[in-house]
Amino acid sequence: MHISVIGTGYVGLVTGAGLADFGMKVTCVDIDESKIKRLKKGQIPFYEPGLDDLVKKNLKAERLFFTTDFAKTVKNSLVIFICVGTPPLPDGSADLSQIKDVALRLAEVVDEYKVIVTKSTVPVGTNRWIKDLINQHKKTDSAIDVISNPEFLREGNAVEDFMHPDRVIIGGESAYAIAIIKDIYRPLYLAETPFIITNLETAELIKYASNAFLATKISFINEIANFCEKVGADVTVVAQGMGLDPRIGPKFLNPGPGFGGSCFPKDVKALIHQGRLSSSPFKILEAVLEVNERQKRRVIEKLESYLGEIKNKTIAILGLSFKPNTSDVRESPALVVVPHLLEKGAKVRVYDPVAMEEFKKTVGTLSIDYANSPDEALKSADAMVILTEWNEFRFLDLAKIKKLMKNPVLIDMRNIYEPETVKKLGFSYSGVGRI
Ligand code: UDX
Repeated sequence: MHISVIGTGYVGLVTGAGLADFGMKVTCVDIDESKIKRLKKGQIPFYEPGLDDLVKKNLKAERLFFTTDFAKTVKNSLVIFICVGTPPLPDGSADLSQIKDVALRLAEVVDEYKVIVTKSTVPVGTNRWIKDLINQHKKTDSAIDVISNPEFLREGNAVEDFMHPDRVIIGGESAYAIAIIKDIYRPLYLAETPFIITNLETAELIKYASNAFLATKISFINEIANFCEKVGADVTVVAQGMGLDPRIGPKFLNPGPGFGGSCFPKDVKALIHQGRLSSSPFKILEAVLEVNERQKRRVIEKLESYLGEIKNKTIAILGLSFKPNTSDVRESPALVVVPHLLEKGAKVRVYDPVAMEEFKKTVGTLSIDYANSPDEALKSADAMVILTEWNEFRFLDLAKIKKLMKNPVLIDMRNIYEPETVKKLGFSYSGVGRI
């Protein structure tokens, strides 16, 4: 069976390489010629552990192909996965222009039965709209089916998540199309991965509801953490105590500088928007976003509590990506913290093992010092702020760093150090929700 994957972004590339690794012939299509040229040589445009090996292995085995030729690839495929972006519009709704564009291009070339599978996160009702759009514009009377097959990949863990998902969600109306998609995922089925077969709307909503619930857990624990600081409790132990109740579970209860990334902020906003349109408001989710924005500013409050005015103080920021093992800075807390510090007149030095280029591209001409190592960032600094829990920040030589810094203040927004140990070394220390 031949498969096309439209869009070679994060989801598309992992899906294409993953399905090829299952043994299928997969062609990934993109409109960006230079990207396709590089992908043909096995060059991945972003940092994702394990993905370059997977792509190279399947290129070599001639199961994975890259092209800009949309029409030819679609004509040769029974199944077409749509993996293009659905970024947020200013009002919070999802921008479906790339989806619409793909649907109209599909309508141009569909000349026999095809199964169109949407992996992109799309608002409830979108798959039905895609089907109508293709049917209205297609040039032949060949039938199509649409399937909603949302993706739950975590950046930094995407290959592992694709190969060993918690569940596979397949939403559709045609038993025949559902059977085809189930067959594609046969290796997972055989490995006893739970499959949920449902209708289009339910499948679409499972994705939003899952991300919104995880974001809610994070905002919830961030508020508990802030309260812990007021009353002298330790949030890490509170979370441990809560997590032992299987109805709550231990995961996604780590407080921090607020959630970021390409999914949580976007999907929560989009679900709020869908709720408003349907007169079914998501009050909890509005609060989740508000708490998250406030949490990003906690860093500044903490710095001011140690340094007083931060004007002309040198602040070293360790970690720019929204989480470790990725160069992605989309919606990263650093994008709020750094400009805010600059506005207050601080001098800002930053260091990140892989995300500095992305950060520079995103913030443009802001006057920031980019350091080549944590030590370089920390030299003569008035405070150090850990924003991302990269492993290399977990084992810093703090005794040496204390001598380097002008003022040994450590704001640990990821709770990667033990307060007592750090304080014993002579640092003023503040984590999140532990004193
Ligand atoms: C998320 C979902 O996990 C994934 O299923 C979905 O498909 C896409 O969105 P991702 O954005 O890659 O994946 O990152 P994730 O590891 O979920 O973290 C999201 C954000 O939450 C990060 O900013 C992270 O630092 C933050 N987070 C996560 C916390 O602050 N505390 C936690 O306990 C967990």
